[in-house]
Amino acid sequence: MEMLTVQGGAPLRGDVYVDGAKNAALPIMAASILLNGDVRINRVPDLVDVQTMSLLLQSLGATVRHSDDILQIDTRRINLHHADYELVCRMRASVCVLGPLLARFGRASVSLPGGCNIGHRPIDLHLKGLAALGADLRIERGYVIAEATQLQGADIFLGGPGGSTVTGTCNVMTAACLAKGRTAIRAAACEPEVVDLARFLNAAGARISGPGTSIIEIDGVDELTSVSHTVVPDRIEAATFAIAATATRGSISIHNAQPEHMTSVLDALRAIGATISVTPNQIDISTAGPLNGVELAALPFPGIPTDTQAQFMALLATVPGVSVVTDRVFPDRFMHVSELLRMGARIRREGASVVIDGGSQLTGTRVMASDLRASAALVIAALAANGESQIRRTYHLDRGYTQLDQKLNGLGAKVLRREDNSPSPGGPHYLQKDSTVRNTSEQSFD
Ligand code: EPZ
Repeated sequence: MEMLTVQGGAPLRGDVYVDGAKNAALPIMAASILLNGDVRINRVPDLVDVQTMSLLLQSLGATVRHSDDILQIDTRRINLHHADYELVCRMRASVCVLGPLLARFGRASVSLPGGCNIGHRPIDLHLKGLAALGADLRIERGYVIAEATQLQGADIFLGGPGGSTVTGTCNVMTAACLAKGRTAIRAAACEPEVVDLARFLNAAGARISGPGTSIIEIDGVDELTSVSHTVVPDRIEAATFAIAATATRGSISIHNAQPEHMTSVLDALRAIGATISVTPNQIDISTAGPLNGVELAALPFPGIPTDTQAQFMALLATVPGVSVVTDRVFPDRFMHVSELLRMGARIRREGASVVIDGGSQLTGTRVMASDLRASAALVIAALAANGESQIRRTYHLDRGYTQLDQKLNGLGAKVLRREDNSPSPGGPHYLQKDSTVRNTSEQSFD
């Protein structure tokens, strides 16, 4: 197991280049199952989650090659329709193979995803959408068993108590491509990654209109053809660097970004006091003047992405003034709070929100990552802290960021990746919101 050692206190300066979006690449990889041929996907980062999805596709019979951020998939020899628990429990996005397997082969058995560190994450809306398309669904021994001789277009409301569902929209939109007739998905997710998946599918011959709005219409076709596609930039990675630059009071240029996918993030950073200028694929951010606290709420797109909530919280802990952070997508996504407290942050839960008495000087110490974006928050806090921090369980970080340590060192940070030979405790114990103590050593992935 690896860990990161971070020497805090250095302002980030210089240029950084973001990769393609993990959360676009994963559903696009899954959707490649729909077609019987060759798929080339450009700008696919070499992430652990991409490796997991590749293993899953290979377990179904596909051939997958990944080099120099080009992913090539041959789906001709897919002959299995079973997504095993061992792979699905590593990554919830594996559920995205359910719709395409069902649409292409008329059947699928996909393990229910395991528990999750960022909150309750059901897939009831995925199943509701596929059932509306005519699938027979049942749960057997922890697996979703889906069957449909021919999917039929339908008018589907896909909203839930937590708003729209990103991967649920991806699953249903993908399956509807081969359904007979027209499908309308209402309360569809509007995230750029859903739009990118629609672009990929349309390039392969699908007939999808309205992606990026809350109503997506799909006219079914008989088959899709081989396709080549380039993935959109990772707005969460770009946001992570922008927030880190602000937290270290630095000045950086973020290249290969797509600022129009990040207006809420840039708006929040400006409200905190950062100076930002953008061109169509670059963001320049600096922090010359004073910074101040703000009130933030994570919302579905175009709101502040929940995947940046932890990173903002780390920044706001260093900013004078009171801030309030609420996550309307994953209301309990606060596993990072306990570790930030250990670094000297002044944070308290107030119902569904977290109140931050900002401006304390964070101090480096040993901390434990709990999930992908909480890890990024701990890196940001460590970069801003006085002294050295050690961040354990770096594997969480490697699921969503390629070479984050090297990219940060290219901006003047001092981050060292090394083996973690310290004895693994029985897992960190976190005081949950309801003050129960939960041993999280056997955690599954978000
Ligand atoms: C996607 O997860 C992302 N993952 C997540 O990023 C991201 O946090 C999330 O969307 C929200 O933007 C990928 O795209 C691979 P949802 P997803 O379904 O699709 C509720 C990261 O760090 N819901 O949009 O699983 C759910 O409980 C990851 O990169 C239902 O009620 O999230 C939540 O409250 C973490 N029933 C809300 O909808 C369902 O069937 C949004 O969840 C599905 C979801």
